[in-house]
Amino acid sequence: MKNSSITIRPLSAHTGAEISDVDLSQPLSDRTYQEIRDAFNQWGAIFFRGQDITPGQQLEFARRFGEVDVNDYATVMNGVEDHPEVRIVIREPDASRNIGGFWHMDQSFHPHPNYASVLCARELPPYGGDTMFAHLGAAHDALSPGLRATLETLSTVHITSHVYGIGSTPAPDISEEYYFQKREEWAGIEASHPIIAEHPETGRKILYYSPIYSDRIEGWTRKESLPLMKYLAEIATTPEHTCRFQWSEGAMAMWDNRAVLHYALDDYRGERRVMHRVTIGGPWLKPCARVAEKVPENAA
Ligand SMILES: [Fe+2]
Repeated sequence: MKNSSITIRPLSAHTGAEISDVDLSQPLSDRTYQEIRDAFNQWGAIFFRGQDITPGQQLEFARRFGEVDVNDYATVMNGVEDHPEVRIVIREPDASRNIGGFWHMDQSFHPHPNYASVLCARELPPYGGDTMFAHLGAAHDALSPGLRATLETLSTVHITSHVYGIGSTPAPDISEEYYFQKREEWAGIEASHPIIAEHPETGRKILYYSPIYSDRIEGWTRKESLPLMKYLAEIATTPEHTCRFQWSEGAMAMWDNRAVLHYALDDYRGERRVMHRVTIGGPWLKPCARVAEKVPENAA
């Protein structure tokens, strides 16, 4: 006998689960809400298919999980008529690149990023446009105890500069000339986050590292930071820690920006893709004890 109201089908060992037997056009019962929340915490990214929901209903679903928050950095996207909190993520056929075509977690250059994103398919290309996810708890667990102990004392500075104009080029590989030009243009929009932090709901340790937004290790030069950052990028995006979601009409995804990276594949040039995104604010990652520890004033 089934003892939950929903059905959960994992897509891989570490992240991604499809949830069925739920109608998101209807208000969620407390029990169903809790089951979805548990699946979200366990898998970091959850997916629903065949949902016939309006932007208003997408917003209502998101509000069950926290306060809907559109911060200043989403101004590159327009809002849906009557529901400005629902942002339109659009890629026109003649656009040279898509939005989010690189491994990232949303808004990590913000001091307190939105913890969850809810994305609903509205118009899909005939092929391509899948989204990939990589679990950063699995990435943490793959590190040696020695490297973990070192990383627990470090933070990275996340900036926006690398993203605007360079498409999917991994940040550590861009030219120095380009780097300094973009860094000047977008100066001031940055935030520092501990590299290893604890998930506030599961207690799980997370490797909070963004291959595109991470600029340098706090207190280190960029040149000093690059070798370690290249290694962290490799671990964070290990293929075995990922899943790939193929969108279909009426599909909706919700992911945890504290636990997973995502990557919007740009493999449908010349086609149109329209998605609606809602972002939710809430409890953020907790620094682990080692970072939080204060150095005694008389320490050498
Ligand atoms: Fe994104």
